[in-house]
Formats: sequence, C-alpha cells, structure tokens
Amino acid sequence: MTQQQGFYSKVAEKFGGYSSGAQRTTSFPQGDPEERFDALVRELASPTGRLLDVGCADGRNLLAVAPSFGRVDALDLSPEMLASAERHRAASGLDHVEFALGDASATGFPDGAFDVVTSRRGPLFPEEFRRVLRPGGSVVHLGIAERDVQELKEVFGRGQLYGRWSKTPVLREESDRLERAGFTVDHAREFTYDEYFHTPADLDRFLQMVPIFEDYDSAADRDAFERYAARATTSEGIHLARHWFVLRAQRN
Ligand SMILES: C[S@@+](CC[C@H](N)C(=O)[O-])C[C@H]1O[C@@H](n2cnc3c(N)ncnc32)[C@H](O)[C@@H]1O
Repeated sequence: MTQQQGFYSKVAEKFGGYSSGAQRTTSFPQGDPEERFDALVRELASPTGRLLDVGCADGRNLLAVAPSFGRVDALDLSPEMLASAERHRAASGLDHVEFALGDASATGFPDGAFDVVTSRRGPLFPEEFRRVLRPGGSVVHLGIAERDVQELKEVFGRGQLYGRWSKTPVLREESDRLERAGFTVDHAREFTYDEYFHTPADLDRFLQMVPIFEDYDSAADRDAFERYAARATTSEGIHLARHWFVLRAQRN
C-alpha cells in the first residue's frame, strides 16, 4: 500500500467518503475553479462520449457530470473510497458508470478508448492519458497550485508543495509536461479564493481529511494550529487562502 493510498483509505474509513462536513464560507473573487472544471468537462460531453476519471475518490463530483456522457469509467487506488463511490452510484441509479480499483499511471484500458480523461485533484500522467485518448480527445485537470494555504504551511513548517511558492509555478510545469507528451493546452487558468472555517473544530476536521499535511495530528500539531488560528481569525471565521488551477489539453 502506498502512503497516498493509505492516507485516503483512512479518510474514507473515518468520514465515510471524501467530505469532512466541516462548516465554512467560501468567497470566489475570480470564480469557482470546480465550476470552471465542470463547465470545461461538459463542453466535451456527448451522449455517445466515453469518459475516464482518475482519482475519483468517493465519486460524488464525478456522478454530477456523468449523465452528460454515454459511458463512464473511474479509477482510484483506495478500495475504501471506491466502496463509498459505489454506494453513491447505486443511490444515483446511473448504471453507465463503473468504478474500479486501478492506478492512473497504468490504467490497463486499450489505446484510444476514451474521448475525455478527467483528473479532479487527482494525479496527472500525460503519457498514459495520451495513450488511452483517441486523437483529438482531451484531458481536463483541476490541480493545487503553489501558493495554496502557504501561510498555514509556513506556520506548520511543512506540508504538500512546501516551499514550492518560490519555484516554477505548478501550472507552468504541468502544462509543459502535457505539451511534451503530445497535447496542445487550450485552457490554463489559476484561481485564488478564500475559505473561512466557522470554528477551530471545523478547520481541525478539514485538516484531518485533506493531504495538506498527510501526517496531521490534532494533538501533536496543537501549538502550530493555535498559532495559525490566532493570526488568521477574522469576523467571518478562520481564513485559508487557496490557490488552484484548471487545465485542459487536447491530444494531437
Ligand atoms: C484529492 S482526492 C480527489 C477526489 C475527487 N476526484 C474529488 O474531486 O472529489 C485524490 C484521489 O486520487 C487518488 N489517487 C492518487 N493517486 C492515484 C493513482 N495513481 N491512481 C488512481 N488514483 C489515485 C486517491 O486515492 C484519492 O482518492
């Protein structure tokens, strides 16, 4: 079991899926990146279109766009997340969607099988995605950019993409990787936005669910948590400054 797989399996066991229920208010001065991602995916949809989603987790976000496609396959490394995804699928009644345990870097699907590959905060493997896409097919990716929760990570002194804010932007690097693998990027946009957690308990729940600190421990990290909360508390709640990107590229 990889570290990531273990992390997401623990999250699914603890929260029953990929949602902590933490209460927060969100403000999107540049628009909501998830809405942008969904809109870009829907632009590519058709009743006969075939979609592959990688890193689907509990599948809830995928099931919202799935009705626009003719057939949908989804992969994740975590059996616990997939069990949750299958429960959501059964409740949705969507029988053209199949969830399977699999690694996005070696999907096992035939060459050219898909019209669209999506990765919503999941991994990006340009060569494998190019292989399973038909010529002219597209990949759509929602990713975490280098300044995401930078101040929180500075207070903790660690975290996902720690220190990356002073290096090559993630969007630039991922665009280059796609171009090198034989894609043409047709959409690349960054989003900064604000989240306000209503109480310290809400922020604590959120940090237990996301891989910002895969080793986050409410007790061991209490000092750093309180130092951050003291400086980031506003009248709206405890502030987190987010930085995401949305990328779409067409297979040459
Ligand atoms: C941040 S979650 C994304 C959740 C989901 N796409 C969403 O937006 O709600 C990332 C997911 O990617 C999965 N994952 C990470 N690496 C993977 C890989 N190489 N192949 C398949 N799934 C992977 C993890 O198990 C996890 O469930």
